[in-house]
Amino acid sequence: MKLLLRLSIFFSLLFISLPSSYGCTSNDKNALLQIKKSLNNPHLLSSWNPRTDCCTSWTGVECTNSRVTALTISSGEISGQIPNQIGDLIDLRTLDFSYLTHLTGNIPRTITKLKNLDLLRLKQNNLSGPIPEYISELKNVTFLDLSFNQFTGPIPGSFSQMPKLQAIQINDNKLTGSVPNSFGSFVGNVPNLYLFNNKLSGKIPESLSKYDFNAVDLSGNGFIGDGSMFFGRNKTTVRVDLSRNMFQFDLSKVKFARSIVSLDLSKNRIFGKFPRELSKLRLEHFNVSYNRLCGKIPRGGLLQTFEPSAFSHNLCLCGTPLKAC
Ligand SMILES: *[C@@H]1O[C@H](CO)[C@@H](O)[C@H](O)[C@H]1NC(C)=O
Ligand SMILES: *[C@@H]1O[C@H](CO)[C@@H](O)[C@H](O)[C@H]1NC(C)=O
Ligand SMILES: *[C@@H]1O[C@H](CO)[C@@H](O)[C@H](O)[C@H]1NC(C)=O
Ligand SMILES: *[C@@H]1O[C@H](CO)[C@@H](O)[C@H](O)[C@H]1NC(C)=O
Repeated sequence: MKLLLRLSIFFSLLFISLPSSYGCTSNDKNALLQIKKSLNNPHLLSSWNPRTDCCTSWTGVECTNSRVTALTISSGEISGQIPNQIGDLIDLRTLDFSYLTHLTGNIPRTITKLKNLDLLRLKQNNLSGPIPEYISELKNVTFLDLSFNQFTGPIPGSFSQMPKLQAIQINDNKLTGSVPNSFGSFVGNVPNLYLFNNKLSGKIPESLSKYDFNAVDLSGNGFIGDGSMFFGRNKTTVRVDLSRNMFQFDLSKVKFARSIVSLDLSKNRIFGKFPRELSKLRLEHFNVSYNRLCGKIPRGGLLQTFEPSAFSHNLCLCGTPLKAC
């Protein structure tokens, strides 16, 4: 009798637990159906059929333990705004809406409910307005990509409060203002900074000199003054692009890390002599054209392997690959 009871409990438990061991939970399914509806039931989401399992047969949906953990919608005819119901997918780790040129509006505040979000990619849509400060409430985000949109206004200073951030990619927008002073005090990682092709201006905070960035790309803005804080003998920085700005500093005073493989300083107002150290780097990309450098290009290393256009339009640079001094 006892055994029979146990067996029946065992089987009923098995039955109760079976449905949740596969198939998405109804909360997540409902949220996704709401999202589909508020995007006007686009063809791209035609596989989102209420009668099928959202975890196994819906485009762009991935689950872990029956909870939706990744939503990837990309390259399709979707128009409208990012639906508020996105915040109801509370187990999301990856949110990727990219290459949706008719996705407009801003990022809804409900996104801050996604406390487990790790990757937030909203790349190459048509989002606009200021980048909301509340994104920084997403403390688990490691990778933030808002590039190629129409965002305006300043860079949120609160980004420095995101402890796990490894990359800030906000390039190719219409951002204005300067690099926030708070970037001198990141609470966690030192993230790769991709700020290129915006309308940013002003001086870079000196306090950034204490960081060892891996990659920094500030090209195509209106930055002025010193840009040498990104360099330093003991750093492990690999790539620096400060091109197409109005940086003005003495290159001869800069100490370069041996780790640098890509260096573009072209189209600035950088002056001084050409540092001998540059001939010791394993450079794959190099360009100092259109500056105010002067003197002899040191021989040796890889410098002579670059085309003259990598050195041209300076005040008085000379030596191979330019004309003899
Ligand atoms: C982006 O949105 C603006 C209006 O905010 C519109 O004029 C423009 O055509 C849109 N761009 C694309 C590629 O859809
Ligand atoms: C980050 O995610 C982990 C689990 O993925 C969770 O335990 C933690 O509470 C989250 N952090 C924050 C700040 O919410
Ligand atoms: C670089 O590292 C060396 C050796 O660890 C140390 O002696 C030197 O002070 C460091 N230089 C700077 C500018 O931190
Ligand atoms: C260097 O930059 C200038 C200015 O952008 C460009 O015209 C030239 O082709 C570049 N040269 C190389 C070798 O990258």
